[in-house]
Amino acid sequence: MITKQQKQIKETLADLYTDSKYDRLKVMKGFAKNIFKPMQPSTFKDAYLSISQEQGEDLYQFITKNNIKNIVEFGTSFGISTLFLAQGVIETKGRIITTELIESKAQKAIKNFKKAGVNDLIEVRIGNALETLENHTEPIDLLLLDGWKDLYLSIFQMLESNFHAGTFIYVDNADMSDSQAFLKTISQNSKYQLQTKYNGKAVLINIKKIKES
Ligand SMILES: C[S@@+](CC[C@H](N)C(=O)[O-])C[C@H]1O[C@@H](n2cnc3c(N)ncnc32)[C@H](O)[C@@H]1O
Repeated sequence: MITKQQKQIKETLADLYTDSKYDRLKVMKGFAKNIFKPMQPSTFKDAYLSISQEQGEDLYQFITKNNIKNIVEFGTSFGISTLFLAQGVIETKGRIITTELIESKAQKAIKNFKKAGVNDLIEVRIGNALETLENHTEPIDLLLLDGWKDLYLSIFQMLESNFHAGTFIYVDNADMSDSQAFLKTISQNSKYQLQTKYNGKAVLINIKKIKES
């Protein structure tokens, strides 16, 4: 039977995906307004840029299957991906730290988490992830990288001491050039194993198991 909380999450997600249908237009507007400026997160302050529904559903299943409890997310936007993560941690009794640079986006995400009835499971840190996650010292079971791609390596390295044998790192927009440079670096480290998903849109990194002799 579907619980009241699960129903609230599903309804909130449905509303957000409906609204995100205008993303393409908002992205084009952002480009047009900033045509002579380098692209910044603020260029897309009105756009969701979210993971797909299929990715979200799979993440939810992945969290429950692997009993993932401690999640850190880089790039909240309006909270679509975080809501899927929340669906998972409700079942595993875990929690989420998510971080967003643009204040107005973070505030809307907080509203969405309240509407979905999951705000007590989610800590939203507003600001640059390089600062908001800097002093993180808790073990991380799942790190979702879905912010600005040129920061993936710095954030990964900054949080690496919190990884353990069962940690997963989910990299969205893995096909973008900055992500590719990051993944090339990680793939050269024999400690990590990479698995491509959704025809290259995402990559899942895990720590290689040491074979017992
Ligand atoms: C692709 S969107 C995230 C989409 C979200 N994960 C989802 O699926 O609904 C990337 C977000 O990262 C944020 N961002 C970019 N640079 C950041 C930084 N240095 N620190 C925190 N957030 C950042 C952007 O403002 C943007 O909202």
